[in-house]
Amino acid sequence: MKHIISPLDLTAEELDDLLALAQKIIDNPEQYSKICDGMKLATLFYEPSTRTRLSFEAAMMNLGGKVLGFSSADSSSAAKGESIADTIRVISSYADICAMRHPKEGAPLVASQYSLIPVINAGDGGHNHPTQTFTDLLTIKSLKGRLDNIVIGYCGDLKFGRTVHSLVNALARYNNVTMYFISPEELKVPNYIREEVLKANNIEYKEVRTIEEVMDKLDILYMTRVQRERFFNEEDYIRLKDTYILDSKKMKLAKPDMLVLHPLPRVNEIAAEVDNDPRAVYFKQAKYGVYVRMALILKLLELA
Ligand code: CP
Repeated sequence: MKHIISPLDLTAEELDDLLALAQKIIDNPEQYSKICDGMKLATLFYEPSTRTRLSFEAAMMNLGGKVLGFSSADSSSAAKGESIADTIRVISSYADICAMRHPKEGAPLVASQYSLIPVINAGDGGHNHPTQTFTDLLTIKSLKGRLDNIVIGYCGDLKFGRTVHSLVNALARYNNVTMYFISPEELKVPNYIREEVLKANNIEYKEVRTIEEVMDKLDILYMTRVQRERFFNEEDYIRLKDTYILDSKKMKLAKPDMLVLHPLPRVNEIAAEVDNDPRAVYFKQAKYGVYVRMALILKLLELA
């Protein structure tokens, strides 16, 4: 049985297959609308979510399956002290597959060690968010037509941003990808990403402080939110939260075909005036998340 804890749990070939299947689903959704009839997805969310939980649930419903689960630790028996191991042992007899989000890094990995059903990491602390990465890759592939030969800039909270960590890991496997990391000193990418991913894969990269200095080089600008919930100190959050605000003036510096992605939710880091720019594709990106999760459910249940 396969679990998805990290984006690297799929080989490059399996990832290509997943993206190809998602594209087939986009082209012909009717063909897949009953394939999970009689099956259930459990969504075990110990941390807030809009897109990930609801897109997983929409994905299973689009496949003809049903969903059950909880959307906060407080509404589950975790509030009474139940362990992840015991919870997943029980859920294994209620559902065929599960998606788990947890504030603690490694919680979905622990669940996978006790589970009798496939476990999908739907975000664990500041660590990984593989299905967001699959969504990002499908968005780039569909709208840019390629995953090789791209220049990408990641901007914002690169220290705690699990979507960035996962996407860096995944894009490191493609050819001729150049990465710029745009962050304040306090929110730079963790050292393990620099050493074990960027240097280990000979990725060309540079860390910079402003969007303006790299904007004209980028094919993709990946904006992220400064995440209040990951800070120990409210003062630091307030000082850093509005470091970057993408607006129409900055967009004028970008290539005409550059794309702006954001995993969402956004707070202030992208001004609403950017939403009408055709290069702003973050709402399309959220829609791609449903198709790629449909494809992933089918693959893990060995139905496609
Ligand atoms: N992108 C993402 O993970 O969004 P949610 O936190 O709303 O699930």
